[in-house]
Amino acid sequence: MAKKLLIKKERKVDAEGRKVLVSKFEKHLVDNDKDFSSQFGLIRKTDFKKDSIKVGKEEFFILEPSFIDYYKRLKRLAQIITLKDIGAIITSTGITKDSVVMDAGTGSAGLACFLAKVAKKVISYDINAEHQKTAKKNISELGIKNIEVKKGDIFDEKKIKEKNIDVFILDVAEPWKAVNTAEKVLKKGGFLVSYNPNINQVERFVKALTDNFLFEKAIEVIEREWTVKDRILRPRMKDLGHTGFLTFARKLK
Ligand SMILES: C[S@@+](CC[C@H](N)C(=O)[O-])C[C@H]1O[C@@H](n2cnc3c(N)ncnc32)[C@H](O)[C@@H]1O
Repeated sequence: MAKKLLIKKERKVDAEGRKVLVSKFEKHLVDNDKDFSSQFGLIRKTDFKKDSIKVGKEEFFILEPSFIDYYKRLKRLAQIITLKDIGAIITSTGITKDSVVMDAGTGSAGLACFLAKVAKKVISYDINAEHQKTAKKNISELGIKNIEVKKGDIFDEKKIKEKNIDVFILDVAEPWKAVNTAEKVLKKGGFLVSYNPNINQVERFVKALTDNFLFEKAIEVIEREWTVKDRILRPRMKDLGHTGFLTFARKLK
């Protein structure tokens, strides 16, 4: 369903010589065809045509949502690859509109959906039918047509028939079990990427790479958001957590 993005900046007033916060930043993805009831009052759907609307003392800016606004609302199963890590996968492997990419497991299709916006086609395997249901719903909500969701065990290379894949991305707990599959499906020069939270998984994966692969790098992408507010200028106290390691290998022959 078509949506609008409503954004309200935080509002401060001058009181006793200092700025006092009276209302916080808000962001809402709302249906085009329904009035929106904000805590400050009703915003009618007929007002969505405007650039902004005043509700009491507050002003809501009305924007067309972009892909990322929809993406952030996807239903998530246990864990999806974070945006910073997706960025590193795309840029390190040079995925473009000509690339055919495969990933496993699909999970909520967080990674697959983002890849689909960049690549020509994404083939996404998962062993779990329930996860596939959520993934398909997410893919359909984003209106994405170039993902093929397939059911299968990625460790069983005999059952995986794809060939000539440009980039194969693993987000499974035991990626070393999928090295044989990677050898089979990747084109010569293709990239194998594994995303794992623990360094002992990385070690085992790298050890499992055959001579047909060049191990390129294992990295951790650290994103530190900073608070830039009045005199507070420092890294944010929260969100400094670890996500995962990315391991990159390239098929040589
Ligand atoms: C952490 S989730 C993947 C999340 C996904 N990358 C995302 O961004 O939404 C791991 C998925 O791998 C699937 N999986 C585990 N072992 C598998 C296997 N051998 N073959 C295919 N899928 C597998 C699980 O069912 C689960 O859905």
